[in-house]
Amino acid sequence: MENEFGRFGGQFVPGVVIEALNELETAFNEAIEDPVFIEEFKYYLKNFVGRPSPIYYAEQLSKKLGGAKIYLKREDLNHTGAHKINNTVGQILLARRMGKKKVIAETGAGQHGVATATTAAMFGMDCEIFQGKIDMERQKLNVFRMEILGAKVTGVETGTKTLADAVDYAIGKWVERIDDTFYLLGSAVGPHPYPTIVKYFQRIIGEEAIKQMDEQAHKLPDYLVACVGGGSNAIGLFTEFIPHEEVKIIGVEAAGKGLHTKDHAATLTLGKEGIIHGMNTKVILDEEGSISPVYSMSAGLDYPGVGPEHAYLQDIKRATYEAVTDKEAVDAFLALSHLEGIIPAIESSHAVAYAMKLAPTLDKDTIILVNLSGRGDKDVEAIKKYLGNSEV
Ligand SMILES: Cc1ncc(COP(=O)(O)O)c(C=O)c1O
Repeated sequence: MENEFGRFGGQFVPGVVIEALNELETAFNEAIEDPVFIEEFKYYLKNFVGRPSPIYYAEQLSKKLGGAKIYLKREDLNHTGAHKINNTVGQILLARRMGKKKVIAETGAGQHGVATATTAAMFGMDCEIFQGKIDMERQKLNVFRMEILGAKVTGVETGTKTLADAVDYAIGKWVERIDDTFYLLGSAVGPHPYPTIVKYFQRIIGEEAIKQMDEQAHKLPDYLVACVGGGSNAIGLFTEFIPHEEVKIIGVEAAGKGLHTKDHAATLTLGKEGIIHGMNTKVILDEEGSISPVYSMSAGLDYPGVGPEHAYLQDIKRATYEAVTDKEAVDAFLALSHLEGIIPAIESSHAVAYAMKLAPTLDKDTIILVNLSGRGDKDVEAIKKYLGNSEV
């Protein structure tokens, strides 16, 4: 196994899983060398997902803030409404190539569950999604979408009943059904080779963005900003830009109710090195050194670990990580909706919120490219509840 992310990453899993991971790695390495597989992947990205997703200059928002220009990479316009579909198309093609007929997946915000159910329907595969009971409640619309698409959604009642528990449960179920089932992991997390696989299928975001920025602005962006839950939309945008050292890279985590409280999910900001879900990375620990429950109003950022490559990029100082509170994210959600006519996912609103803080500190020739990882239809009910009686 190659050590791609310095001391981070690895395979901290039982032997039976190591065997399945080795099989997966071999199949993946063969697939990406096969021009037929690559053509097929590109075909579905173009004709099913609707790629390339555009880049849009958020002129009203930029002018109002009075500093740098904010551009948005519109992953919200993809089929099913988020970046998650890029990875599910890639992995379902891999599952099919490996002769698997059943897929399982975990989901937090439900976007990965919807994307998995969608691609499973397309290829006639049996699909079961595991989702924490709390997340099922706050993302009801997506639960219903998954069911309409023919997937079985199983609620996870353990722990905090959120994303981390759904991942634990999915890994457990995979071990039971390893012979005929493909585990379609939804973020750049987990044991090797999952973070590498997810990055490979998501890097199209940055590949397109680098060309589109050149066409539209005739320069590279000065800053990249993306929200980080497990880290897949962020790594998808960042990868192509990493060699361009003049481009500053910023990941944005959830500060929930504030970094001074226990109710946050700011893993890279406040976490320590540790093992979760089969990888060595940064994790949020309690006083006893156990994985701590985390909180964010955003189900997709509510995760006590993070993809190992982000821990590595922070360690080598190629990327920095900031944290944004629920309140700042909701303000950004409303600002983008009012000023640009774009309702962002609450996850993506964290990236928008940080860009809104950064832009006024920079001059108007500076460009910030924000990854708008998803659309906010799934979040309107939660925003309504959060705002209570206050004016929208
Ligand atoms: C729209 C959206 N953005 C971001 C995320 C966070 O995941 P990741 O960090 O893997 O991009 C999610 C997760 O559900 C999501 O639905």
